[in-house]
Amino acid sequence: MARPAHSNDSSIALGQRFKGPGGGTSSWFTFWSRPEGIHICQRHLEARYRCVASEFLAAFPDAAGKSLLDYGCGEALESRRLAQRGIAVVLYDRSDYFRQRVERRFEGAPGIRILDDSTLAGQAPASLDYILVCSVIQYLSPAELEALLGMAHTLLKPGGTLVLADIIPKSLGTFADVVDFLLYSARHRFFFSGLRTLFDMVATDYRAHLQHSHLVRYDLDALSADLGRHGFQPRRAARNIGISRVRRTLPAVKPAPAAS
Ligand SMILES: C[S@@+](CC[C@H](N)C(=O)[O-])C[C@H]1O[C@@H](n2cnc3c(N)ncnc32)[C@H](O)[C@@H]1O
Repeated sequence: MARPAHSNDSSIALGQRFKGPGGGTSSWFTFWSRPEGIHICQRHLEARYRCVASEFLAAFPDAAGKSLLDYGCGEALESRRLAQRGIAVVLYDRSDYFRQRVERRFEGAPGIRILDDSTLAGQAPASLDYILVCSVIQYLSPAELEALLGMAHTLLKPGGTLVLADIIPKSLGTFADVVDFLLYSARHRFFFSGLRTLFDMVATDYRAHLQHSHLVRYDLDALSADLGRHGFQPRRAARNIGISRVRRTLPAVKPAPAAS
């Protein structure tokens, strides 16, 4: 895999069936197990999830009546809206912190199912129409990404789509990413909250983790080739699914076998 240097090569808890090599715990995973250090105001958070859900629905209008695994779902604040659109929403986050939060938030909610490592491992092959992985792969090691692509190919139905969203392109500098984030904050009238979030990222654990494991930036051609090697047909979406206008989204279809 043509990928940037990454300091951490540990395995991912994708559920036992999908476990990669090694057995360690990545620095980023430790961070996301206890993310309270970064202050993001509720309206800011809500706007972020609203944006991701709206962009997803706009990009995939046929998703109603289909199933969607939101992988690395975080707070998953728009899951009820997606379920109300007739999407069978399946949530998974490797972090116990987020899993417990979404379990409490969506207890008994129709059309929303929450997986842990063991139920993810038990998810039937070829059972999902969409897998959305938004703003997650920058935290993965090469081995973790490999395991994720393999798992996604197994779990998607033929014709299903893996959506890698909010990818940080290799060519995108930190400054441009930060400016884009502040512009987003200003557009949504959270400029000072956005500044505070950035300040917290610098002042807290996030920076310590950044020093150990940089955010992974991707060469989109190399990532597309990786997707191709896993049996996907990727394309570059014109518009990112996420708050950033400078990060990118690659929808990748698992082709249906040709009719004989
Ligand atoms: C920046 S948040 C993105 C949340 C949500 N997808 C969004 O777009 O707002 C990153 C999320 O990825 C999760 N995560 C990090 N590493 C993961 C992994 N190896 N497997 C699954 N989830 C992971 C974190 O726990 C966190 O919830």
